[in-house]
Amino acid sequence: MSFTVAIDGPAAAGKGTISRAVADHFGFAHLDTGLLYRAVGARMLDGLDPVQAAETLDPADLARDDLRAPAVAQAASKVAAIAQVRAALVDFQRAFASRAGGAVLDGRDIGTVICPEAQAKLFVTASDTVRAERRYRELAEKGVQTTFDEVLGEMRERDARDSARAAAPLKPAQDAVIVDTSQMDIDQAVATAVAAIEARRG
Ligand code: C5P
Repeated sequence: MSFTVAIDGPAAAGKGTISRAVADHFGFAHLDTGLLYRAVGARMLDGLDPVQAAETLDPADLARDDLRAPAVAQAASKVAAIAQVRAALVDFQRAFASRAGGAVLDGRDIGTVICPEAQAKLFVTASDTVRAERRYRELAEKGVQTTFDEVLGEMRERDARDSARAAAPLKPAQDAVIVDTSQMDIDQAVATAVAAIEARRG
């Protein structure tokens, strides 16, 4: 039996951590759909046409070790505004969502466009300064040279582009449960998400 959990939200709100924990908790498979756009963005930075890059994406592209770089995040949000790029990635995401045994997909348009029929939808958010602080710490731990202001600026730019685009903009589905993690630690955020999903499982 399939059961789809859609988790959307802006950059660094905690979607990835929550999605992995929720998938573990329920024994569901997890797909970080941002990786698809990051892989297309990375291929564009390599010189490929973004639509062609999306149409010929293969598993090795998703295993690249540069996908978390800030330049790739910006490139991802640029290619993500191209309708043909999004269209090329739809079938893969929907097939993943309907797999037997349950699936968690996290991204920007899962509850609105990719899986409007998802049984559980969450929109995970937090204030932009809290999100930038978390992302800054993550990057600093990895040894990436940057500043808090630079991270905050890039994040605001990316969120603005993701929210303003015509194709599948970042926004909560009407029936999504909003989880604001600004004042929560990881355990509280995961517990809130698990409870919301349990409520939909009946
Ligand atoms: O989630 P992550 O930060 O890895 O996503 C990178 C970029 O990919 C986002 O800024 C957004 O532009 C794009 N994206 C998207 N739709 C998704 C997932 C990611 O447009 N479902």
